[in-house]
Amino acid sequence: MRSNRCTAAGRPPAPINGNIPPQSGAIRNFVRMKISLTERDAKVIWHPYTQHKDILPPIPVVKGKGTLLFDDKGQSYIDAISSWWVNIHGHSHPYIAEKIYKQASELEHVIFTGFTHEPAVELAERLLPLLPGDFSRVFYSDNGSTAVEVAIKMAIQYWGNKGSAAESNGPGARTSPARTKILAFRHSYHGDTFGAMSVSERSVFTAPFNDYLFEVIFIDTPTRENRYELLSLVRKQGSDIACFIYEPLLQAAGGMRIYEAQLLDELLAEVAGQGILCIADEVLTGFGRTGRLFAGEYLRHKADIICLSKGLTGGTMALGVTAATERLFEAFLSDDKRKTLFHGHSFTANPIACAASLASLDLLLEENNLRSIRHIAHRHEAFLEILALYPIVKNARAIGTILAFELNTGHDGYINAIGPAITKEALAHGIYLRPLGNTVYIMPPYCITEKEMDQVYDFLVHCLRSGGLTS
Ligand SMILES: Cc1ncc(COP(=O)(O)O)c(C=O)c1O
Repeated sequence: MRSNRCTAAGRPPAPINGNIPPQSGAIRNFVRMKISLTERDAKVIWHPYTQHKDILPPIPVVKGKGTLLFDDKGQSYIDAISSWWVNIHGHSHPYIAEKIYKQASELEHVIFTGFTHEPAVELAERLLPLLPGDFSRVFYSDNGSTAVEVAIKMAIQYWGNKGSAAESNGPGARTSPARTKILAFRHSYHGDTFGAMSVSERSVFTAPFNDYLFEVIFIDTPTRENRYELLSLVRKQGSDIACFIYEPLLQAAGGMRIYEAQLLDELLAEVAGQGILCIADEVLTGFGRTGRLFAGEYLRHKADIICLSKGLTGGTMALGVTAATERLFEAFLSDDKRKTLFHGHSFTANPIACAASLASLDLLLEENNLRSIRHIAHRHEAFLEILALYPIVKNARAIGTILAFELNTGHDGYINAIGPAITKEALAHGIYLRPLGNTVYIMPPYCITEKEMDQVYDFLVHCLRSGGLTS
């Protein structure tokens, strides 16, 4: 019989011949020959968003502390983009690490249908009152894309369940027309799974899959100029539309585009007036990023569904949350089993990830942390005045802890040599930046020190002054 016991000392038992998967001879040889981690990586890893034909050797990171990442040679890098926007309290935070360890030693995971556990329930209990809206139910998944998938499925099935409820009351009783369309913003990004890609801007990210994505009505984000046109479109097509998904106030991967809360509110009022379900994708904007706990706090109109991930666990573990209102939840309650939300993942509500989230919430709500968020926002505002001195800088902007600008190099867009050039130059200065094409942005963990902030700003100024970014 196969055993997964540990010895009393906590060491794993000696492997039993035949129970370990055979490693290829080549891989065993690499390990034995002590070739570098980057060389081993080059043989076996396929990295995300990476063209391996011209890949620079990835940096072997051996440690993280606060905002700093350390490589195998002891060189440190300020993580000025919070490791793809997830890290909010700094790397390897001892408080979160301790809670993760404690949870892992008590209950590492359990199937989440037919079972429940304290961290999942407590996290929902603590999260729901903080959210911007009347949310009463938390559905857990694994990341931002899955949180969005769940939201879309909830919204589509909501209308299906409601429609069939009316139909089941007899012929002619159907009250709600079939709502089959989905509304989203141009330049949006909601993730990389198929549903999330479908509601995202058709771009270089989605191009190979465009023929397989479902149709969506895309509209521009509201401006003073187009606001009435948008309202009229929603009024005309509203009764066909099941849901509207949006990144409130900030379209992140689409180029750190900030848009006005007041105009979004006006649009949301019309959308809600048409009975369309509103899905707020706060995967990035959640947990303080925009200066408030959630971007929805800047809005009067509240969403029916909200998607969260990234900062949820403080950036330590993969976890997604899709929270819904009671009205939505109730549409799935039925004696008819077909009205169940048939969605779930092996690691739904992983206890360790939930414990990490609870620890992250403790830290997030501390007064000095909220003060740091405000302080970063003030410093960004001040730095905008400096950026205004450089003609190569276009459209400098900031919201909360995020600052962004375009480099006026004549080439806009994601595939742009300037981005990798800046990353390389920044690394040489001990800073990690990863522009989106010619959009340069910073989004540090909230624990960034004054000195580190100065270092990042100084680097940007140095580049702008020396023309380093234009080379
Ligand atoms: C607004 C938004 N939604 C969804 C996602 C997808 O999240 P994940 O990368 O965790 O799948 C992202 C990722 O950047 C995002 O910014």
